[in-house]
Amino acid sequence: MLSVQGIDVYYGMIHALKSVSIEVAEGEIVSIIGSNGAGKSTLLRSLSGLLRPRTGQIQFLGQKIDGLSPDTIVHLGMSHSPEGRRIFTNMSVQENLQLGAFIRQDAEIAADMERVMERFPRLRERFKQNAGTLSGGEQQMLAIGRALMSRPKLLLLDEPSLGLAPNLVAEIFRIVLDLNKEGVTVLLVEQNAHRALEIAHRAYVLETGTVVLSDTGQSLLHNPKVKEAYLGG
Ligand SMILES: Nc1ncnc2c1ncn2[C@@H]1O[C@H](COP(=O)(O)OP(=O)(O)OP(=O)(O)O)[C@@H](O)[C@H]1O
Ligand SMILES: [Mg+2]
Repeated sequence: MLSVQGIDVYYGMIHALKSVSIEVAEGEIVSIIGSNGAGKSTLLRSLSGLLRPRTGQIQFLGQKIDGLSPDTIVHLGMSHSPEGRRIFTNMSVQENLQLGAFIRQDAEIAADMERVMERFPRLRERFKQNAGTLSGGEQQMLAIGRALMSRPKLLLLDEPSLGLAPNLVAEIFRIVLDLNKEGVTVLLVEQNAHRALEIAHRAYVLETGTVVLSDTGQSLLHNPKVKEAYLGG
């Protein structure tokens, strides 16, 4: 579904991704783990068209997408729930969800919004509420719900569990699994390496802009280097 071939991404002089290659097959959950500053968010931003690789290529569903605009990439079926949530805080929950469907003109938008609220009942209770007044966990749910409103084939999730209480973390990971079972392919960036590896079919370890390891989630969970560096020994 997704093939990233040797991309290099820079912020000015900072070489943030160094010849990074990853693959995501349809139906998979693929996790990217790595420390602060490793380049995880940079990778997702490059995929969704917010950053342009200087070299290399990105293919999505058989088409070269590097260089395409973010909205074209959403049209093709990739949706990005960014780090730090980035919801529109001065708009209501409803308006945020509607914006998630900006590429669509079909008659099923309302039904999809209903489905998002079945998945996240708290959003229904707060439908008309200003998104900026939601709790951190609720904002995260809204960000995921908004990303789902474009009916993505591939969902990019950047740190969906960051800053959440343990029970909410468990809920978010359960929702990611549910979505995947319903047919959404997921590329998940997480600092919660343990859970990210547990639910992943495959995973990549990113260190200072370079992929240093890749394997099944289960193998990486038992890999001594990964244990020491990312799983607390
Ligand atoms: N807008 C920017 N301008 C300059 N440098 C940036 C910018 N965004 C990120 N960087 C740098 O690029 C590198 C990778 O950052 P990135 O945000 O991708 O890391 P990350 O793996 O997502 O980290 P974290 O786990 O803290 O979210 C870091 O060294 C960071 O300082
Ligand atoms: Mg990040």
